[in-house]
Amino acid sequence: MLHSAAATTAAAMINLVAVLVSIVVVLLPTIYLILTRKKGSYSKLPPGWSGWPLIGETLSLLMSCPATSMGNFMELRISRFGKIFSTNILGGQAIMSADPELNRFVLRNEMKLFESYWPQHLLKLFGEKNIGIQTGTDVHKQFRSIVVGAFLTASRLQTSFLDDAHEVAKQLITSWKDGSVVSIVDAAKKFLFDVIVKNALSMESGEAETEKLRIEFTKYRRGASSIPMNFPGSQYNRALKAKENIIRIILHVLEERLRTGEDAERNDFIGWLIKNSSLMHEQISELIKGIVSASEDTTSTLISLAIYFLESCPKAIEQLREEHLQAVGSKTQEGPSKLTWDGYKRLEFTQCVINETLRLGNVARFLIKKATTSVQFKGYEIPRGCRVFTHMTAVHLDPHLFEDPQVFNPWRWLSTSGMIKTNNFMAFGGGPRLCPGAEHARLQTAIFLHHLILNYNWKSAEQDKPVANPKVQFRKGLLVNVRSASSSTN
Ligand SMILES: *[C@@H]1O[C@H](CO)[C@@H](O)[C@H](O)[C@H]1NC(C)=O
Ligand SMILES: *[C@@H]1O[C@H](CO)[C@@H](O)[C@H](O)[C@H]1NC(C)=O
Repeated sequence: MLHSAAATTAAAMINLVAVLVSIVVVLLPTIYLILTRKKGSYSKLPPGWSGWPLIGETLSLLMSCPATSMGNFMELRISRFGKIFSTNILGGQAIMSADPELNRFVLRNEMKLFESYWPQHLLKLFGEKNIGIQTGTDVHKQFRSIVVGAFLTASRLQTSFLDDAHEVAKQLITSWKDGSVVSIVDAAKKFLFDVIVKNALSMESGEAETEKLRIEFTKYRRGASSIPMNFPGSQYNRALKAKENIIRIILHVLEERLRTGEDAERNDFIGWLIKNSSLMHEQISELIKGIVSASEDTTSTLISLAIYFLESCPKAIEQLREEHLQAVGSKTQEGPSKLTWDGYKRLEFTQCVINETLRLGNVARFLIKKATTSVQFKGYEIPRGCRVFTHMTAVHLDPHLFEDPQVFNPWRWLSTSGMIKTNNFMAFGGGPRLCPGAEHARLQTAIFLHHLILNYNWKSAEQDKPVANPKVQFRKGLLVNVRSASSSTN
């Protein structure tokens, strides 16, 4: 008790200090930037301002803002310096890019001119080999090729992922009572987690071991967006412990599998890894942890954002319904029949909704890359060791590139509309490190939406807007009131 009270007091103090520091750190530079007219003094570096000694402009960059905006930090500096400007983040020189050409250039030249960069505390939490955070180590490359070549394969997407997602979503969503209030964020997280651990480990929802693993992943996930202070009781500290527990649980599954020799009949990923890879047990465990954390969090945010945007766009919901009913063919007695892979491939408008959700909601706001050599671009010099933030959000919300960028308009993606140059759209990154889970994320989102729109209408039960912190979150978990749709779709 005492201990947790002390921790709460400490947390409150930290909050207070954070507020005071933000005032000094964010307001003063803003005034400075508005009052002065001095352009950057370095000749070949992009123009910019490097902020305060040591912390630079880190806190300004990380100030939370609505997910559907690029934030004051970017807006103010873009209008002052242009789409490419220099700054100082996390104790080092950095270049911010809201320029789609520079972003493409950086991402395409990863491994040649640039490498991934992650802050130390996140590397420590996720592990250097983590598939979700893309470091450049050899083990990471090996992990990535295994995931692409054996887990997220086309054949696995078309069979087990499609079937499992269908079963899990159906069970979860049809269990909601007419008129009840549900948290979409929690439901989407549960859905993703259940599908992934089923495919990776043959673990079923509701079993004791699965629920234990779920709790550890929740703690682990919280650590990623916490203040990186490692003392007993801190969120970051609990996340580091959760990480150990996750590894232990997966190792246990692995050892049971080897002991009972059950892997022969199972078509799951861990079985494949045991048979076909030369990875050590710790590595297998590490790899599966990475897959779960990478896909669960991002894809559940994508699903939640889609449902959030759709609520204010009833025309899109209607069109989705029609498309999904058509894709499953005629309804049977127990409702619509199962969505097949061919049916899924015909969901063009659904893909428009997913793209538009990614553009406006920005699950991944920026990536950080580090120049491994000195690079010239558009007359600027990017010095060796300098980090470049490829700010996708700033591009996706640029009114010169996307008409009325603040409007949720899935129709802009229809090929016939001619409104989009898709190469300005980089929700999944790009180049050699394009997110390997992109197709998986689209499939899971489509299936969740499928069951939701064919069964319910929904209305938000509480005001809850997505906030970027910079991780995108709904503070209240996106609570919605669901109403059975049977009367309106029959
Ligand atoms: C995995 O190994 C088994 C037997 O060792 C083999 O039959 C199978 O084709 C391999 N699978 C892949 C995807 O390489
Ligand atoms: C959605 O975006 C992807 C790029 O990530 C693009 O290839 C695809 O054509 C877009 N889909 C639609 C329906 O516009």
